[in-house]
Amino acid sequence: MYELKVRASKTYDITIAEDLSFFSERVMPLVKGESVAIITDDKVNALCGGALDDFFAAKRVIKIVIRHGEKSKDAANFMKIINTLAEHGFTREDTVIAFGGGVVGDLAGFAASTYMRGITLIAVPTTLLAAVDSSVGGKTAIDLNAGKNLCGTFYQPSAVYINTGFLKTLPVKEIKNGLGEVIKYAFLSDTVKDTDIRKRDAALIYKCLKIKRDIVEKDERESGCRALLNFGHTVGHAIEKLSGYKLSHGACVVKGMVYAVEISKRIYGLSDGTVAKMYALLNSGKHDLSCAYSAESIAGQISADKKRYGDSVNFVAVKDLGRAEIVKIKISDLKDMMSDYESSFKSV
Ligand code: GLY
Repeated sequence: MYELKVRASKTYDITIAEDLSFFSERVMPLVKGESVAIITDDKVNALCGGALDDFFAAKRVIKIVIRHGEKSKDAANFMKIINTLAEHGFTREDTVIAFGGGVVGDLAGFAASTYMRGITLIAVPTTLLAAVDSSVGGKTAIDLNAGKNLCGTFYQPSAVYINTGFLKTLPVKEIKNGLGEVIKYAFLSDTVKDTDIRKRDAALIYKCLKIKRDIVEKDERESGCRALLNFGHTVGHAIEKLSGYKLSHGACVVKGMVYAVEISKRIYGLSDGTVAKMYALLNSGKHDLSCAYSAESIAGQISADKKRYGDSVNFVAVKDLGRAEIVKIKISDLKDMMSDYESSFKSV
């Protein structure tokens, strides 16, 4: 079992275990009221929906099951959740359990953060992506028509319990989705090696979350270094939106990291050796590194991003593995560098 403490606006523990045997000890003391809402999606519900039931046998439990997929992270489901909590008489004493992947976590977190101005939130991630990234750090959100995560809050959970047993139920596509975020950490810190990435175990999740925890503790509300965690995401989110969310978040982040490497190459004049090392890492999850969208359309989508400042964005560039920095770049310059990259591979 691995443990991490996060000291942000709320102090809480992350538990990484191979099963649920520590759940009673680590989580149940935080579940104080009479009522518990387990928010999950149809896929998780089919595979392991009853896994938490025994722990809450003495509580009044409601289960809210949304359809899996990014399209569910919308205002309609948000309203459905908070209205259901209200109809069942949930009070500030009661608890929301986010039991699922990134979509469930963001949506349930947003609902927990706004219902009665905030009720207890416990995160029980069931995907690699949620385990290594979205369940920790307090970002909650729904998507708007204009773009992903445009409406949300910073709201820390009271506990995060990661059972790696749940990850064994995941299809390859979902593991690859999470590996996109894992590869991101290997760019941000040399503590995550490609040998770790291959193991995909609790130790890897711990290493990734330690990097995230340290950053979140320094800059919970992303006024500075937390933006490093967005490596690959500026372009990645744009591609995700352009695909109508048909491509997974992790797959898009990997494509976004390809652009980030290519842009870093142009900004810093990286050596061939450094770029080769970066591509070895990008290839370590066996993702498709190609992109079907033009620089023009990606740049257009970036203009709708919440991280835009006027005509510029804070872009995460890398000088080497473990040496990322935030640079302010005009979106028009980004577009030019992406077009340059596009024409270079098209001419090969
Ligand atoms: N997923 C990036 C962050 O939590 O800041």
